[in-house]
Amino acid sequence: MEPDLVPLDRIDLSEDGFWDRPRTFREGAFQTLRREAPVAKFDEVAFGPIPAGPGYHVLSTMQDVLFASKNPQIFGSAQGATSIADLPPEFLDFFGGMINMDDPRHAKQRKIVSAAFTPGRLKKVEDQVAEVAAKVVDDIAAKGSCDFVTEVAARLPLQIICEMMGVPEDRWEFVFERSNVILGAGDPEYVGEIGPDDLIGALLTAGAELAGLMTEMAEERKVDPTDDLTTALITPDADGEVLSQDDLNSFFVLLLVAGNETTRNAISHGLYQLTLHPEQKQQWIEDFEGHARTAVEEIVRYASPVIFMRRTLNEDVTLSGTDLKAGEKVMLWYASANRDETVFENPHAFDITRTPNNHVGFGGPGPHFCLGANLARREIMVMFRELFERLPDIHTVGEPDYLTSNFVNGIKHLRAEFTPVV
Ligand code: HEM
Repeated sequence: MEPDLVPLDRIDLSEDGFWDRPRTFREGAFQTLRREAPVAKFDEVAFGPIPAGPGYHVLSTMQDVLFASKNPQIFGSAQGATSIADLPPEFLDFFGGMINMDDPRHAKQRKIVSAAFTPGRLKKVEDQVAEVAAKVVDDIAAKGSCDFVTEVAARLPLQIICEMMGVPEDRWEFVFERSNVILGAGDPEYVGEIGPDDLIGALLTAGAELAGLMTEMAEERKVDPTDDLTTALITPDADGEVLSQDDLNSFFVLLLVAGNETTRNAISHGLYQLTLHPEQKQQWIEDFEGHARTAVEEIVRYASPVIFMRRTLNEDVTLSGTDLKAGEKVMLWYASANRDETVFENPHAFDITRTPNNHVGFGGPGPHFCLGANLARREIMVMFRELFERLPDIHTVGEPDYLTSNFVNGIKHLRAEFTPVV
């Protein structure tokens, strides 16, 4: 895909409708920003009852995104990493997981959580990924066509997180719907045609319902421990540390929203790109293991499922010649850094053999680097292996139905067809 030529004075990332424009326009806008205004400032708009803030700076080059990631003492996450607007304090109950924390709080939580991901548990999860992927393909194989997003890509990551945490199967749909509301908040398909004030209510309700489920599960595990992650997180670690109930609830919500939509969108964009480039699909099928590592990285770079993350400046700093002041909001525009022409040759080309591929799809090097990166890589790889082995002619049909969002590069629906296997 070659980007449009978009002049700087036509670019307003806050403009109503910008995020509904064709991808070629969007890519063109960021190409211009990288070249002409690598640290560009935009006005904020009101978000429901939250009044418009003072504006935000967008870091569109890889160099600046890496600098910000590596200097968390300057670029803080505690005032909110996942939204441009400053969210009201009640949001922190459910959405204030460690992605929205700085050290020392962040380091403490990340240590407890990372310690729970023991090699034994990761091995078990790997086996589950293969089992769930096989089951997902079983369910569509005889049909010859499906909605690839809802019937394939969305099912694997959701089920894996639910299984890891020990969510009972009859609650999976409940979890799926609430996580859709949280990440699809800008799109009427997930929250209905509601006014902006009700949107905040819908988000809070979804968060509270997920937190309620987690509280219920933790209570059960205290009486009846199992070998799931929930049990591990409420059991003191080697240093006697456990997550509080509130921290456990917000971690659960974070895992769901961070691990679900992202991986789902990577898989959906992946099949779409492989359909647009059948020769690459064939190449991967012919030597699956040989290309798996680079293909998965390219899918994540190309899809950039997380478009940006926010930081707030703790001190003044100068980036690409622009002076920024303490207290200002700065967006690490991962999707743009992943197209930086000074880093990637032919950045707009999809190439499953791309090497090197130092993308920031999972975030930059720093304390918030994606905790689930290895799990996500495995899920993407195993899903394609299963699809290619059993439905090798699977391909998408038509254009993706994209999510309206400046934060998640989402695909809501995408038709796929294949020769049925009974
Ligand atoms: C293709 C799939 C995925 C993508 C593109 C992705 C992307 C990201 C990005 C960009 C961040 C950085 C946040 C920042 O800079 O502030 C992040 C953090 C995080 N991700 Fe992922 N993620 C994916 C899958 C997953 C999965 C499967 C899980 C868990 C099951 C997960 C859990 C997390 C958590 C807990 C954090 C917060 C880490 C922290 O703040 O210390 N992610 N992810």
